[in-house]
Amino acid sequence: MVRAFALPFVVAAIIAAGFADVQAIAPLAGSAHAPKSVSQKRSAVPLVDKHFDYDNLPHKVDTEVGERGPQSGYNDCGPSTAGPGSLCQTAVVDSLADFCLWGAPVANSTVGDTEGEAVAWCTQNTHGARVIPAGAITGVQFIRTPDYVQVTGVINQTLINYNSDDTGGELDAWGADFRGNPEGGIVFTNAFASLQGRSGKHVQSPMWHSFMGSNKFCIKLCDPDRPNAAKYCEHIYDRLGCPYNAPASYADGVFETCEGTSQDFPGVYYDSNGKPQQYQQPPESAGEITTMPYEPRIPATSRCVQFASTAIYPQPTALAPTASTTPAPTAAPEHQERLHVANRSKSGATSTAISASGAVGLVLLTGTLALISML
Ligand SMILES: *[C@@H]1O[C@H](CO)[C@@H](O)[C@H](O)[C@H]1NC(C)=O
Ligand SMILES: *[C@@H]1O[C@H](CO)[C@@H](O)[C@H](O)[C@H]1NC(C)=O
Ligand SMILES: *[C@@H]1O[C@H](CO)[C@@H](O)[C@H](O)[C@H]1NC(C)=O
Repeated sequence: MVRAFALPFVVAAIIAAGFADVQAIAPLAGSAHAPKSVSQKRSAVPLVDKHFDYDNLPHKVDTEVGERGPQSGYNDCGPSTAGPGSLCQTAVVDSLADFCLWGAPVANSTVGDTEGEAVAWCTQNTHGARVIPAGAITGVQFIRTPDYVQVTGVINQTLINYNSDDTGGELDAWGADFRGNPEGGIVFTNAFASLQGRSGKHVQSPMWHSFMGSNKFCIKLCDPDRPNAAKYCEHIYDRLGCPYNAPASYADGVFETCEGTSQDFPGVYYDSNGKPQQYQQPPESAGEITTMPYEPRIPATSRCVQFASTAIYPQPTALAPTASTTPAPTAAPEHQERLHVANRSKSGATSTAISASGAVGLVLLTGTLALISML
């Protein structure tokens, strides 16, 4: 279920709860509040059950009208739809250099208010979508595990049309009416571990989730050929944001691609006896979530390879959101190929895990400081 939120409620609740004794989860990326609509009629054919061939996409995958109206954009994106006005709702997540996020169609939006109409914003201009302006992403980790591919990081969210104060929300392939958020939003990748040996082939990832807000983002595509895809891409923890749904380092200033072990299922944690427990997200009526019974474990990474952002993303002359017609430099494909090359001289799972948990503390601290500075 996907929910919208209202920042003032978050701020008020945090003030009421006090900062000192709680894990300050509210300011985290993609924490969502205040349901916009919880009783929409379900689509006859849920978006997750619609399967498409990347080379033969329909204009719109969602032809319903429903309570939320028709799909706002389209899926048959290509050279003619590329640019700052694109309403492409097909996202591609292939590599550190080449991935898309969901952003808003018009400036100064909130994730919650525009979740149904989000459009693809990509690092490259080759997907018929908008281009994330150079410099917007200041840290990113692309990780592949046996079960999913995931991109997490730090972004200036105003550059993909979100209000700078927006604490955000969840976008996923479900939504209250199962038409997805955005409605008709579909996601493809050529990076699933199960695709190795079939280089370049794009397959749909019917199950995916993404959180965006407080200048953090995460998007996870769960391999439908693996047994627990629905659990890794769980969509019921819409109030917990990136750290609980996609635990990773969120290190600013680092641009890296890694292999890794799969995370605990979102919402699953281990008690002091090592027994697995399932977190129950309280209903909105119970008020803000101010404490959590667990901290998410950041999975071990390995074979991380780091890059300078200038080496992997197009470098238009300015930070203009309209710079999306700038062609990708010819160097990009070569770098893309290198991104999956294992770096055996740096296995470093332990040290990475340690520094990663430090980074979560930093994320918490940063979120709290940002909130304080807003008050
Ligand atoms: C963005 O929206 C908020 C309220 O939604 C408004 O107060 C603010 O002035 C807007 N900022 C810009 C740059 O339009
Ligand atoms: C985000 O980008 C806008 C537009 O370039 C800029 O005004 C703002 O200061 C940036 N915010 C941060 C946190 O860097
Ligand atoms: C692998 O990592 C080492 C140490 O971090 C670095 O010196 C080397 O350049 C890396 N190799 C590649 C191919 O990135």
